[in-house]
Amino acid sequence: LEASLQPKRLLGKRVLLTAGPTFERIDAVRGITNSSSGKMGYAIARAAAEAGAEVVLVSGETALPTPIGTRRINVLSAQQMLTAVEAEVAAADIFIAVAAVADYYVLNPSEQKIKKDAHILTLELAPNPDILANMTAKENPPFCVGFAAESENLLEYAEAKRKRKKLPLLAANLVQTAMGHDDNEIVLLDDSGETRLARAPKIDIARKLIAHITRLYDAAQL
Ligand code: CTP
Ligand code: CA
Repeated sequence: LEASLQPKRLLGKRVLLTAGPTFERIDAVRGITNSSSGKMGYAIARAAAEAGAEVVLVSGETALPTPIGTRRINVLSAQQMLTAVEAEVAAADIFIAVAAVADYYVLNPSEQKIKKDAHILTLELAPNPDILANMTAKENPPFCVGFAAESENLLEYAEAKRKRKKLPLLAANLVQTAMGHDDNEIVLLDDSGETRLARAPKIDIARKLIAHITRLYDAAQL
């Protein structure tokens, strides 16, 4: 019921999101990943759909059901996530990057399962593309929103990230308060300063975030 009562602020708008972790293959059975349940991203996808948007969710591996009213594209690696986002971004009015993207991939993954021995195993890692920064660097980017999960110096690191990635809006949270929980507490950073969203279930935070995004998005269209 509550879902159907949400104001349809995004009717006719297309929202693209990334969510969940990425997975970078080491060999046939192993990989490098990031901690992320996908819950925050999925809650935002649901809130965007409730607000009337057409929603595309590019998702790493999660155990979550696809939110009602969203089209989901499953990916594993950061490169696959970038490819999927590149294919969808031209149609998007708003892009929200919630995924916990692995910052590195393994240079020479092995086709076969690597056999253990008593020696030190060295993996060569190369940096992954920054999906969000690639989108904001485009000529006609959608309205881009980033997330920053930090373990310390939250506001300072998050604002630096917002500037570096040229984002009109960044949602910052502490990993200690966000990860693996059903509720969250975030600070929104934009050109007018900080807005604190007090600890609440992720779906409530997501609805408030969508309302905030809509206000900034509408103001940017004037
Ligand atoms: N992001 C992305 N592609 C990457 C890395 C990050 O799209 N390769 C996005 C995330 O989805 C998030 C934002 O960028 O919206 C910030 O991610 P974060 O990992 O906090 O920032 P980094 O720039 O990777 O910096 P660091 O991990 O060193 O803090
Ligand atoms: Ca990172």
